[in-house]
Amino acid sequence: MRDLMEITARPDVISLAGGLPDTSTFPPEVFAARMTQIAHSSTEQALQYGPTEGFAETKECILEVMAAEGMTPDADDVTVTTGGQQAIDLIAKTLIDPGDPVICEAPTYPGAVPVFCSYEADTHQVEMDEHGMRLDLLEELLERLATEGRRPKFIYSVPNFQNPAGVTLSLERRRRLVELARERELLIVEDNPYGLLGFGEDPLPPLYQLDGGDYVLYIGTFSKILSPGIRLGWCVAPPPVTEKIVLGKQASDLCTSSMTQLFALEWFAAEDWRAYVRQVSEIYRKRRDVMLDALERYVGEQATWTRPEGGLFVWATLPDYINTTDLLAKALGENVAFVPGEAAYVDGRGRSSMRLNFSGSGEDDIREGIRRIGGVIGEQVELYETITGEHRRVGAGERGAKVEADTDEMEEPAATVLPLRKPR
Ligand SMILES: Cc1ncc(COP(=O)(O)O)c(C=O)c1O
Repeated sequence: MRDLMEITARPDVISLAGGLPDTSTFPPEVFAARMTQIAHSSTEQALQYGPTEGFAETKECILEVMAAEGMTPDADDVTVTTGGQQAIDLIAKTLIDPGDPVICEAPTYPGAVPVFCSYEADTHQVEMDEHGMRLDLLEELLERLATEGRRPKFIYSVPNFQNPAGVTLSLERRRRLVELARERELLIVEDNPYGLLGFGEDPLPPLYQLDGGDYVLYIGTFSKILSPGIRLGWCVAPPPVTEKIVLGKQASDLCTSSMTQLFALEWFAAEDWRAYVRQVSEIYRKRRDVMLDALERYVGEQATWTRPEGGLFVWATLPDYINTTDLLAKALGENVAFVPGEAAYVDGRGRSSMRLNFSGSGEDDIREGIRRIGGVIGEQVELYETITGEHRRVGAGERGAKVEADTDEMEEPAATVLPLRKPR
């Protein structure tokens, strides 16, 4: 992913790979005014260390954002973090011992995969359909783990306009998931960067709200509603967990940037943040439409894809003989990029899927990018059909309904495995 991001930073590449919000929508004069205000009123504080758990005023802004989705946590349960990414890392650091089972969606947020791996979690991924994680499969998994005497440390979910699949967990499943957590005394980690970026109906209640914060730890971020460059996120957890999270944060970065916390609270004080979120959501809705139209036109029956009602991503699945990691090399030859599906799995599944971002590129680039991707897919399909004489396409009727793992079997790792020297 790191290499990919480096390549896609080239100006000649149309990148549908990143998860970038469009920061060109932020007025430079507002940025200048807020920073000038900080310079006049709080230079000393902006340039100083701050408390590990974050400024009380930043927490006020966080409570305002959470209230917009119906949540009313206690400010003492909030820890300000360096992006939502650090919140995932700190929760994992706090709770996971090597070998502990952790459950997440299949596919899951690609940035969570290296976190779970680095703490040596035994990560299990539960298939999704168009209503989010399949709870029948989750219950089966929980039963299976229980018969082995094991309990997952937590269930990690991105319930709204999921990254990468773009699907939303239905209300019915939210209720049942929270019920399951209570029945089995399991923790849920709800990661919700996209809840306020819906394109139509009112947002569904977060798991945190349905549960009241007993079994649900919550992660939020300013990255998608304001800016990822300010690296400002948060997590909400009951006091004993928060205590450990703060200790873990102290060890990793002492505190989140004072300067960007001040920027956020200046912005909240002076601007209508809800109006800005509505404005960017409307831009993303139009880009989503352009992407879906372009997929229909340039990819057609060669793939299925999801139809997100918010957020930043579409998830497309190609015929199983196409490996999207290989396809990416060809796409880069055409100066277009996507994220290969494999990045969203811990076990090599997802090889025929891809994540496509529609927030970070303009409408013309999205159309052109999908046209180029359609071109390289078309070449692979033609090659396959010429070699095999088969005509295997993905049915149009299935379109939008599937979030599937395309390879159930795990293959042997292709890389050479070097044994580590035994410790003396
Ligand atoms: C589901 C999810 N969680 C966490 C993050 C991390 O975002 P940040 O660290 O910028 O808050 C992202 C970013 O794309 C995301 O999609």
